[in-house]
Amino acid sequence: MVSQVAPQPPITLRVSVTDRCDLRCLYCLPPQGASSLYDPSEILAFEEIVQIVRAVTRVAPSVALRITGGEPLLRPDIDRLVSMLCALEVSDIALTTSGQLLAALAPCLKKSGLRRVNVSLDTLQPERYARLTRGGSLQRTLAGIESALEHDLRPVKLNAIALRGINEDEFGDLARFAIARGCQMRFIELMPIGPAASRHREWFVPADEVRARLEREFEFVGPLPGPTAPARTFAVRCSTTGLPGVVGFISPISDPFCSGCRRLRLTSRGELLSCLMHGDRLDLRPILRNGRARTELESAVRAALARKSVCRTALRRFPMATIGG
Ligand code: 5AD
Repeated sequence: MVSQVAPQPPITLRVSVTDRCDLRCLYCLPPQGASSLYDPSEILAFEEIVQIVRAVTRVAPSVALRITGGEPLLRPDIDRLVSMLCALEVSDIALTTSGQLLAALAPCLKKSGLRRVNVSLDTLQPERYARLTRGGSLQRTLAGIESALEHDLRPVKLNAIALRGINEDEFGDLARFAIARGCQMRFIELMPIGPAASRHREWFVPADEVRARLEREFEFVGPLPGPTAPARTFAVRCSTTGLPGVVGFISPISDPFCSGCRRLRLTSRGELLSCLMHGDRLDLRPILRNGRARTELESAVRAALARKSVCRTALRRFPMATIGG
């Protein structure tokens, strides 16, 4: 009998491999850095991460991996973890980085099987970069981007948070920079998380405004289809140079993508999160260490996926009255 069950869309599992970061961006961390870092003994070993990813691949028919942090390149031997993960049944594997350490690591990441990188780049002005990241070097990140391109970690996606009064005069520059190098530029709406929560009114720029500013310099040729959610991507052409390129918008605030969200997150100490915006987390560490790990991990993954269907941010979009209080 032909199954009536709709095929499951792919899961994107974001695996945080460390909670340390080499930057302290104004919107992400307080001046003194994270208030409480995990004890190093709590951080999952590579073999434990592999065990969890394997459980996710057994439950979901298709799993794309995103390696994140903190700053993932601060994790010693990250290339060894990448090659261990590449040996699993995963459909795609990419890494999100500040880029500060990328120039030196791009060759061994490529060799380990990494497909591509996303690099955070909020500004192209050296002093502004140093101020916004509290001490980061723009030059290092730019060298990291060049190295990623040279070693074919493509498409290289550059992520900028749109920030009022901080980089709102640079959206066109960032897009032109990306397009000139064959990178995709993606503009992300600021979410009210961490230090950004208290400054959200001041700093938030909606994606529509970013697009309106870009339209002064770029022709929007048309939306691009494809499995790029949550980003909405567009083919564009620079009005002055005629160069074609791609820009994307990630709009968690003005256009929440909860209903289509297939992301799970694994923290570096082994908690599985079904949504960024609610606090539910399943601690997988006790399961890893017991004898029934295989089946219990699978049940935990199923539970996390089931919880996505009751994502509270999605519910919050509707007046309480419509969902019965
Ligand atoms: N809103 C949106 N994106 C954020 N990031 C960090 N804090 C926020 C926030 N409040 C982004 C970084 C980086 C990625 C890892 O997460 O800019 O691109």
